[in-house]
Amino acid sequence: MTAIDFKRFFGKMAPSPSSPVRVMAKETAIVASHINLVYRNGGEEFNALQDVSLTVKSGEVHLLMGPSGSGKTTLLSILAGLLTPTSGQVHLLGEEITQFSRPRLAAFRLQHLGFIFQGFNLFPALTACENVEVAFHLKGTHQARRQAIELLDQVGLADRCNHRPQALSGGQKQRVAIARALAGNPQLIMADEPTAALDSQNGHAIIELLRSLAKTSGRTVLIVTHDPRILDVADRVTDLEDGKIVTKLTKAKPGQQ
Ligand SMILES: Nc1ncnc2c1ncn2[C@@H]1O[C@H](COP(=O)(O)OP(=O)(O)OP(=O)(O)O)[C@@H](O)[C@H]1O
Ligand SMILES: [Mg+2]
Repeated sequence: MTAIDFKRFFGKMAPSPSSPVRVMAKETAIVASHINLVYRNGGEEFNALQDVSLTVKSGEVHLLMGPSGSGKTTLLSILAGLLTPTSGQVHLLGEEITQFSRPRLAAFRLQHLGFIFQGFNLFPALTACENVEVAFHLKGTHQARRQAIELLDQVGLADRCNHRPQALSGGQKQRVAIARALAGNPQLIMADEPTAALDSQNGHAIIELLRSLAKTSGRTVLIVTHDPRILDVADRVTDLEDGKIVTKLTKAKPGQQ
């Protein structure tokens, strides 16, 4: 991620501890209703999403799948509040984020949402620890270094704290990106193709990490992927094609009908 992207995601405003964003716990973590997105370039228009409605329940691992160009990144960006839909509403944790002002949206994202960008998006000049620490600084958290080390330990990288991204493997970079997304223990984790740039061994390690994060913490995890191996960890799958939802699948769990 470039510095500009990072700023765009986290925004400029950290929530002050004395004025937390009010969020009600809801059974549905993410609700998208009748989303349309039209990209406009010069005189040309492209309907990237057409009447997309989607519900992600609290605590589930939900996959968004579909061919290249079907609108997955566009939809994820809208659900994360990074892109404003042309029409339609997005509710996260019971709050309609499509009604939020920019500062309020930035504060909400900082507090409740961890986003893992495709292609790692680490700051190349910062060490692994500093890449995680910066998220704690933005949140106004004390003891950012100590907490960054704890998170790197959680993803199995405590011994790489002082390494810059260029000295890390692809899988290690992705784990730093995941640690950064976990800073502040957000309820929602969104990941865009978290295994796409990884070989099969590293891809498998990241899938296991995402599985344990979702299953041991009760977080809601939404993953955009082409990777069929991630199907094993999913509770539900939504398929997009040409900007429209074509199938929604609920996977039966052991003991369920
Ligand atoms: N800024 C933009 N301007 C115009 N068209 C765009 C823009 N961004 C994306 N698109 C188009 O919108 C469609 C959906 O793009 P998107 O990136 O959401 O697809 P995707 O499903 O994530 O694809 P991939 O699997 O290749 O990452 C594509 O046809 C793409 O060319
Ligand atoms: Mg994409």
